[in-house]
Amino acid sequence: MRSSHTDVLVVGGGIIGLVTAWRAAQRGLGVAVVDPEPGGGAALVAAGMLAAVSELDHGEQTLLGLNIASARLYPDFVAELESVTGRDTGYRACGTLAVALDSDDRAQLRELHALQRRSGLESEWLTGRECRRLEPMLAPGVRGGLRVDGDHQIDPRRLAAALVTACERAGVVFHRAWAGRLRVVGDRAAGVTLAGGPERGAELDAGQVVIAGGSLSGRLAGVPDDVVAPVRPVKGQVLRLTVPRPYAPFLSRTLRAEVRGSHIYLVPRENGELVLGATSEELGWDTTVTAGGVYELLRDAHELLPGITELPLTETRAGLRPTSPDNAPLLGPTALPGLHLATGHHRNGVLLTPVTGRVMATVLTTGELPDDARPFAPGRFSPAASARLEQHA
Ligand code: GLY
Repeated sequence: MRSSHTDVLVVGGGIIGLVTAWRAAQRGLGVAVVDPEPGGGAALVAAGMLAAVSELDHGEQTLLGLNIASARLYPDFVAELESVTGRDTGYRACGTLAVALDSDDRAQLRELHALQRRSGLESEWLTGRECRRLEPMLAPGVRGGLRVDGDHQIDPRRLAAALVTACERAGVVFHRAWAGRLRVVGDRAAGVTLAGGPERGAELDAGQVVIAGGSLSGRLAGVPDDVVAPVRPVKGQVLRLTVPRPYAPFLSRTLRAEVRGSHIYLVPRENGELVLGATSEELGWDTTVTAGGVYELLRDAHELLPGITELPLTETRAGLRPTSPDNAPLLGPTALPGLHLATGHHRNGVLLTPVTGRVMATVLTTGELPDDARPFAPGRFSPAASARLEQHA
């Protein structure tokens, strides 16, 4: 059974696959997406913080450049997406406040502030009192904080839905099925075979294949061992609460903290939803919501915002971050001609969506990775690159 040939076949219809498909179709390529439920994946769980500055971490300086580039693209990206689809993405330029509850947290936050300044990023140190003036619901024990006015938020579920519509309007074809196997003909990736649905067994031909399967990206059968995406799942449990109407001024910006070594954040949406995340657990493919996970998130959030326990708890969910060995994405061509990766975005998939679309569309139309994406080429984890690193170690 054979379907029509397309220029580009994207395996995975989460936000990364969709943005790749949309941007490639806008550049005149024929594009198809293979996914049983396009618009799903980790974006259905993610809180949607665009936290290039407040999630800065030691050792992730190269990634910072890409994160900042994508944060800068966001306003125009959202304006274009909303205008072509007529859909609201929930983008909100609200800023972020990171706070400390005890002297250890405060020392850590001071260190983050210093790292941000060394990296040329804007953030402002506030006393506990200044934090409470900004966010009156904060606990009296808050000892200080960092105000980051440039870190915003978007609703990832609405972003995913808008990207599906944008793809449809740009002529992207959807195959609502699992990709069962990569087809390799001669020395090239040539398409995929579908594993289920009405088109089961169909062989889809493509000039180029992009694997954008999130945490599943390394599991497509038929991919030669040396180009399998080195991506593992990192579980995150996330809660959704609702601020009842009429919305009391509960929280006006994203709030973050590190409480006893665990990151916690609260993202308030304009529609009253308050997203509370997230655990970070190396448990393979497990997506169980556990009593312990929910307890710890609520306990830590209650220390920051005691009023939170009054709010209805409307949803609990766990998702899987697609994580590479260096926490940075894998973008562009592999050593197998015709096969590309767009995966491994770890904690930054929503933030990196606009830049991933730009990078992947450039690669797919010109064959060249843009300069700012070269550090993220999948070849950095190839056996040859690893052997070189070991020699120099
Ligand atoms: N970027 C937030 C998270 O991955 O939990």
